[in-house]
Amino acid sequence: MKIVKTIDELKAYRNECTGSVGFIPTMGALHNGHISLIQRSLHENEHTIVSVFVNPTQFLEGEDFNTYPKRTEADIKICQFAGIDALFMPTPETMYSSCEPSIFAPSQKAYVLEGFTRPGHFDGVLRVVLKLLNLTQPTHAYFGKKDAQQLYLIQNMVRTFFLKTQIVPCEIVREDDGLALSSRNVYLNATERQEALHLSRSLQVATQKIIAGQRDVSALKTVMYEALQPLHVEYVEIVNRDFDTISTIEIGNSIILVCAKVGTTRLIDNLWV
Ligand code: PAJ
Repeated sequence: MKIVKTIDELKAYRNECTGSVGFIPTMGALHNGHISLIQRSLHENEHTIVSVFVNPTQFLEGEDFNTYPKRTEADIKICQFAGIDALFMPTPETMYSSCEPSIFAPSQKAYVLEGFTRPGHFDGVLRVVLKLLNLTQPTHAYFGKKDAQQLYLIQNMVRTFFLKTQIVPCEIVREDDGLALSSRNVYLNATERQEALHLSRSLQVATQKIIAGQRDVSALKTVMYEALQPLHVEYVEIVNRDFDTISTIEIGNSIILVCAKVGTTRLIDNLWV
């Protein structure tokens, strides 16, 4: 496995690749969710590139940029063990200059839900993902459904700017008890770890209601709020695959999203119906 730190090294490596190239952008502290994306790419492509870069532009003032978990040595070992071809680990100075054009995610889809509490977050995500896609020129790029709004906005950007990469949505990986894996789960103490299960349980409750025939979004939201007690719920929302809010579940075209605070940690989860 090649560890690549500079743009020139990355370009030189990319020029040597023939055939399909799979790319998995990450912010490190790799867990089984990331590894499932890596394994899918290894299975589907001749070359696999992973990036580990804690992107400063997607963190808002006062967020956890400085304390975001860093596990550089472990990340390198995980990537080596998985059998990827190249690991790109740039510095902020390599990725950004002091004067550059920005990119703005469409406000009606990027300043709601996650973007309501984190205004500008998705501008930073799109900015770095555009740079990373241009640098790595992947045939396929792998993103988790865990970050459903991010996935939608990236697909929208790729379509809008006619990028050649195919975006591959990947299933959410969970702990045995249902908690969706996240690098931020390390912030949870033992009690909070138990309380965090309210998120996936609220989605299970919604699933049972849908199986029983419930299609009304406000009724589903009500049972979910109940299941989320006593957490501080930031939002429960049901959207279609274009991230428009809907009032009736359309099977095959709906996503149920939940965000709640457990202690000081914001957790998100969702279910694709
Ligand atoms: P990060 O949070 O490290 O996630 C990297 C990728 O792993 C994302 O596509 C995310 O959706 C996916 N992922 C995280 N947890 C997952 C889980 N439990 N199951 C399946 N996939 C999961 O998302 C980012 O980094 C950044 O915003 C990034 C796209 C790298 C831009 O900086």
